[in-house]
Amino acid sequence: MTTSESKVVIIGAGVFGLSTALHLAKGEGYKDVTVFDYQPYQDNAYNPSEGCDGASADVNKIYRCTYGDETEYQDLAFSGRPIWLEWNEQIAKSKPEDLPKGLTPETKLFVPCGFYRLAVGPQLSAYDQMCLDELEKAGLREELHVKKNAADMARLAEKDKADPSTHWLEKISVFDNFQGGTLDGFVDTVAGMTYADKSCAWARYLCEKAGVKFILGPEVGKLDDLIYEGEGDSKKVVGLKTADGKEHKADVVVVACGGWTPSVLPDLNGALEATAGSVATITIPKERQDLWDKFSPEKFPCWGYGLTGHVSPEYGGFYGFPITPEGKIKIGYRGRKWTNYQTHPKTGQRLSVPKTKYTPDKAVNLPKKAIVNIKKVVFELFPELRGIGITDTRMCWYTDSVDNSFVIDYVPGYNKTLFVASGGSGHGFKFLPVLGKHVKNQLEGVQDQFTPLWKFRKAVPGEHANGLEEGENSGRNLASLELADVSDWVWAEPGEVKIEEDEKSNGVLNGLVDKVKSLVVS
Ligand SMILES: Cc1cc2nc3c(=O)[nH]c(=O)nc-3n(C[C@H](O)[C@H](O)[C@H](O)COP(=O)(O)OP(=O)(O)OC[C@H]3O[C@@H](n4cnc5c(N)ncnc54)[C@H](O)[C@@H]3O)c2cc1C
Ligand SMILES: *[C@@H]1O[C@H](CO)[C@@H](O)[C@H](O)[C@H]1NC(C)=O
Repeated sequence: MTTSESKVVIIGAGVFGLSTALHLAKGEGYKDVTVFDYQPYQDNAYNPSEGCDGASADVNKIYRCTYGDETEYQDLAFSGRPIWLEWNEQIAKSKPEDLPKGLTPETKLFVPCGFYRLAVGPQLSAYDQMCLDELEKAGLREELHVKKNAADMARLAEKDKADPSTHWLEKISVFDNFQGGTLDGFVDTVAGMTYADKSCAWARYLCEKAGVKFILGPEVGKLDDLIYEGEGDSKKVVGLKTADGKEHKADVVVVACGGWTPSVLPDLNGALEATAGSVATITIPKERQDLWDKFSPEKFPCWGYGLTGHVSPEYGGFYGFPITPEGKIKIGYRGRKWTNYQTHPKTGQRLSVPKTKYTPDKAVNLPKKAIVNIKKVVFELFPELRGIGITDTRMCWYTDSVDNSFVIDYVPGYNKTLFVASGGSGHGFKFLPVLGKHVKNQLEGVQDQFTPLWKFRKAVPGEHANGLEEGENSGRNLASLELADVSDWVWAEPGEVKIEEDEKSNGVLNGLVDKVKSLVVS
């Protein structure tokens, strides 16, 4: 069993790898923890515009505590919040020269802008109600504010009165023009947004301070193969070989490769599947200060629409963020997640592997279905943005488990020398400060509330398994889908939504169409 004397190697420096390394090494902890990643994160600082394509290397992610009746995750999210705030403070108190690349003392990793969960109808969904019930049991119901509940709205008004900078009433009014303001929903005032790339850069810095070694780069940090010893019952992993040909010894190898995990470890076939979420960015021009103001995190919340109880599987499941300091508004669509089935070069098995802007087989645009749905929802929710058009898109790779719970356990058959920490299933980011505490428990064989949830498990043939049972003939495999092109990014196609004349004539649209073209060729 793994102990603080063990030589631990972690492959993957995303949220799962970083949080694990941090919790192993901190304090009087593990002395010998090494993290490998083929991304040169010391240079690109997790910036998604600079070659990073892991799920964690992103502009922003939602932090929420409402988790329906999955109270283990609810509690875990809450337990991380004070640390997110403490990290903000530590950064604010730091000297600029002491901070890792990409951060300044002004950087906030967590912005408590709230999360507006918009219902799909005039009533809350059963899931929404479950969120309210569970927070009530936890004594935290007062943090949730239901739009159609007068007492909740009065409490929200009180919060604004106590601190006018919170603008909660403004935040719960942002969808009042959508469907005549008939939809219910609630604002979660403990929720907010994390700046993802900066948070990872900070966590990596904390790891280094705690003594974790990083071996990063396309050759030196890339896992080529694990090194195995023995046969049958005594088979074990004793280290890894990297792409530069070097061998590295280890007592235990933790695979935390996000969407790449199933292709790195064929043993995980049937346990995890890489699927892509669709993300679009709308960059607001400097001259539109009205929009910069409206979408600022002070006045505009993170939001979700149709995330559960989908309007229809083809249309439902949208979320979005306030504007970033660079002027980007990010909108995501997860009503349908895409797969990219390929033949594994070593095992010959068919499995879904990530395809991004930066992989050798490049993803240049989203499936047209995703763009059409994003345009539809943006047109309805934010008519003021339709004159600008989409300025960038990204496929962001989830690692889905059979039930959306993480997979954090020893891989059977290697006498506790091979461990997997993955299966983020689209909701792992918020746990960056605390996840590793429980990964450490599983590594050390200490039972906790997550042991049964995170145990190694596979899809059971014939049973629903979160899409993993569908295989490549699911109708969502990229090879069988029509992909969008840049002309799909504007709301100007004949037969589609018309652009208002005045928006066209102010030049914003024309300017952006040119910008969009230049983005695509660069
Ligand atoms: C579109 C989208 C939206 C999301 N939104 C949210 C949200 O709002 N809130 C939230 O809490 N969570 C969200 N998530 C989930 C969250 O991003 C993930 O759960 C989390 O980032 C996963 O971290 P990871 O470390 O498992 O994977 P990753 O971040 O993908 O990291 C894997 C790492 O492994 C490295 N790697 C891969 N192969 C190798 C190899 N052979 N050798 C060496 N290194 C390798 C990669 O370079 C990468 O750095 C979202 C995810 C997606 C895709
Ligand atoms: C598993 O590893 C332990 C040492 O950690 C060893 O004592 C035991 O014999 C191993 N089991 C097998 C079946 O090889």
